[in-house]
Amino acid sequence: MVGFTFRGGRLACDDVPVEDIARETGTPAYIYHAGSIRAAHATLDAAFAGYPHAMHFALKANSTLAILRLVRGLGAGADANSGGEIEAALRAGFEPAQIVFTGVGKTRDELDRAVALGVRAINIESDGEAERLDGLARARGVKVRVALRVNPDIDPNTHAHISTGLRVNKFGVPIEFAPPLLRSLARRPGLDPVGLHVHLGSQILDVEPLGRAARALAGLAREVRDAGVRLEHIDLGGGLGVAYDGTTGADPAAYAAAVLPAVRETGLTLLIEPGRFLVAPAGILVGRVADTKAYPGSPRFVVLDAGMTELLRPALYEAYHRIVAVTPREGPASPCEIVGPLCETSDTLGHDRALGPVEVGDLIAVLDTGAYGFVMASNYNRRRMPAEVLVDAGGWRIVRRRQTYEDLFRNEE
Ligand SMILES: Cc1ncc(COP(=O)(O)O)c(C=O)c1O
Repeated sequence: MVGFTFRGGRLACDDVPVEDIARETGTPAYIYHAGSIRAAHATLDAAFAGYPHAMHFALKANSTLAILRLVRGLGAGADANSGGEIEAALRAGFEPAQIVFTGVGKTRDELDRAVALGVRAINIESDGEAERLDGLARARGVKVRVALRVNPDIDPNTHAHISTGLRVNKFGVPIEFAPPLLRSLARRPGLDPVGLHVHLGSQILDVEPLGRAARALAGLAREVRDAGVRLEHIDLGGGLGVAYDGTTGADPAAYAAAVLPAVRETGLTLLIEPGRFLVAPAGILVGRVADTKAYPGSPRFVVLDAGMTELLRPALYEAYHRIVAVTPREGPASPCEIVGPLCETSDTLGHDRALGPVEVGDLIAVLDTGAYGFVMASNYNRRRMPAEVLVDAGGWRIVRRRQTYEDLFRNEE
């Protein structure tokens, strides 16, 4: 596994110069490195070796079909968060029994589709959803496999916008209401409670809260087992963080050490739903410098042809991504604002960054953008969705072509 490195003063992916790809695809473009995804999957899988477990890749992080096929080929399942993500998983070749369906606010149609397919588990978010799902299952004359999403009120020490396991967050059922709800699920003719589910949040670097969540769910599993509810699995969701600053991300071995003792005591199969950890470091966003300006009293601006329409995370969460010139020029670095072309001040990809001299037309790469990158792209300002490229075994191919203007207007009157 090589990945993105500088070779002879130029950024390359394996042996392929990023310049060569960008010349053919145009910019903005996402470039993914298959080897990095394989390596991240192998590291995480190895951390749980020796205990019955299944990885369900969180499609919300990246649902490009070529990436999904790659992940499926590694033996992972899928975690879908919408009807669209279920369809993406099916098109990528996942079997329904490899899909867990999560999501606050699932519609009747989405639930009914999941019931008809017979997915591995539908993660239930409330008493009301349990009732609606029971009705749909009975109408089809089936028993649907469900897990209860629990809100354990644990702070994962991450950005507030990506915290999901606190009492004030909209997700799951507060843990003290879980035992009676689980017993009532077991009494419903249309439901088969098979698991417990929790997801504390995303970009979690400290594994201690994940350990606490595992202990809380294990305690709950024992409590309901004593009341006659026999479960199959504990699903700890996703959340493992990566090193956006280039230092160290979450350690899969430490993660396993934090959660496995509690899960092992229950004897239940462990499910995890990693998204970011598998794909974030495997992707870059490449744009070209469209303009530069530096007036006295104002910052030095480097304006790219890529912005918040391609990568929303900086505008949405103040997320930090390293940004580099693809072929750095000789000369001193100076502070600058690296911004996109959109009509929004929040369209800033990098604030107060040190960058060497750049000229219009130079290529710039935003690193670690394989997760929550393309999936959050939009057509705001009537911009077209970017191209996506997969580099694998020294070769590369376009796995999604850039939208055309024809694509952009297709559904309109
Ligand atoms: C229920 C659930 N599972 C898994 C994930 C994936 O999280 P991550 O990409 O941090 O691993 C998310 C992300 O928000 C989620 O909501």
